[in-house]
Amino acid sequence: MFEAGNKTIDEIRQGEAYSGDLAAVSGINKKFFIESYGCQMNFSDSEIIASILNSEGFGSTRNEEEADIIFLNTCSIREKAEQTVRKRLTEFKKLKRAKPGLLVGVLGCMAERLKSKLLEEEKLVDIVVGPDAYRTLPALIDEAKSGTKAVNVLLSREETYADISPVRLNSNGVSAFVSIMRGCNNMCAFCVVPFTRGRERSRDDVSIIQECKNLFEEGYKEVTLLGQNVDSYYWVDPITNHIVDFAMLLEKVAAISPTLRVRFSTSHPKDITDKVLFAMRDNPNICRYIHLPLQSGSTRVLQLMNRTYTREWYIAKVKRIKEIMPDCAVSSDIIAGFCTEDEQDHLDTLDIMRRSGYEYSYMFAYSERPGTLAAKRYTDDVSAEVKQRRLAEIISLQNELSLESNKRDLGITTEVLIEGDSKKSSNHWMGRNSQGKVVVFEKIKSMPLQKGDYAFVLVKECTQGTLLGTIVENN
Ligand code: SAH
Ligand code: SF4
Ligand code: F3S
Repeated sequence: MFEAGNKTIDEIRQGEAYSGDLAAVSGINKKFFIESYGCQMNFSDSEIIASILNSEGFGSTRNEEEADIIFLNTCSIREKAEQTVRKRLTEFKKLKRAKPGLLVGVLGCMAERLKSKLLEEEKLVDIVVGPDAYRTLPALIDEAKSGTKAVNVLLSREETYADISPVRLNSNGVSAFVSIMRGCNNMCAFCVVPFTRGRERSRDDVSIIQECKNLFEEGYKEVTLLGQNVDSYYWVDPITNHIVDFAMLLEKVAAISPTLRVRFSTSHPKDITDKVLFAMRDNPNICRYIHLPLQSGSTRVLQLMNRTYTREWYIAKVKRIKEIMPDCAVSSDIIAGFCTEDEQDHLDTLDIMRRSGYEYSYMFAYSERPGTLAAKRYTDDVSAEVKQRRLAEIISLQNELSLESNKRDLGITTEVLIEGDSKKSSNHWMGRNSQGKVVVFEKIKSMPLQKGDYAFVLVKECTQGTLLGTIVENN
């Protein structure tokens, strides 16, 4: 199975590599606009891209009409994600007509999946760059400026952008994302990520810790360690041969300061070990929250999906999490209507959702992606109507579970990291507790606070998505 995966990735690697010489770049006074789609990894990559472009003299703008270059950092995970990007590209037609010389670049997973096909299909695209080739962006921009279409979709076994300090885009100044690894070796049958992001590789621990320390010194109070599969983080120091695994990395980041919260995303259930759970338990600033994507509650479907665990194994894993940390929130990703899924499989999914009591889930109808194992081996045989009906049932159950979980919190006092004003009223603060739940509470004059402060809040009311309370003390 892995052979097939490797082969495909190697084929991608031999794809349309950019091999032009790295001409001097003249970005001074030029402005770029970047829009990101998809997962947090893509948003985090956009911050690396901004840093690369800034150091070549390009400034960023939030106004696309002011831009000399427009970048879309794209996602391929479901067909709809790609449709959204295509629609957006056609919207740039008018801008291109009004501003000759305006360049449009497609970055990220769709660039990697479609490569130079993007240039043919959409006559609007000048630059196509995959997730491991962002260092060559300045040279590719120069190439495109001279009228040649520029493509680099080479995947790498080493690239982690470890030495690049991300420029924090749209940051609230309180929480930031730190990429710790790239790529994925898991080859879940439905998933395009191993093809668009390449082989898994970890970033060195020293640069990760340094980035987290810098963030803390700049006033950030929360870091989320990011990767497609963070629990398989594994770094071997090339000089000392010293090994750092994910549990050790978590402890190192947690040791920066007890007032720096540490989160991580995403965990594949197969890799989250007791060692990681103990590291969480022993460090109160590692948040009590694990995103543990289930995908399906049926062992038969899980096997077809190549998820490598069974229904019983997953149930035992959630039980273990709650044994070690009774107050740990668990969330999930669920796919409705994967190939051959029948009513019993669907009921098995609903059953595990209930048993796990998820605080939150991201829920999707299965969307076949070209090139994946599922597309090659199985028929997408659940009708759109059935997928939608099952998805609606999954969503409705999750809504109930989220409300039940919030109701269990009524009467408790919870520590909240303030992120800013509540959306609805500037008389209220909004923040999150360790479990990742949104908490809203009234500002009071006798306790002046600001974003980035911690406050203890007594929970008095709740909705499905929010806890509402009053401040009892701050520290
Ligand atoms: N690396 C992460 C997942 C990244 S993709 C992990 O393993 O947890 C995020 C989610 O999108 C997946 O967990 C899955 O639920 C969903 N997804 C992936 N491919 C999909 C597809 N072809 N159709 C529908 N949902 C999909
Ligand atoms: Fe995709 Fe599976 Fe890798 Fe997650 S673990 S990115 S779902 S292949
Ligand atoms: Fe999408 Fe690529 Fe992330 S496919 S979900 S942007 S890794």
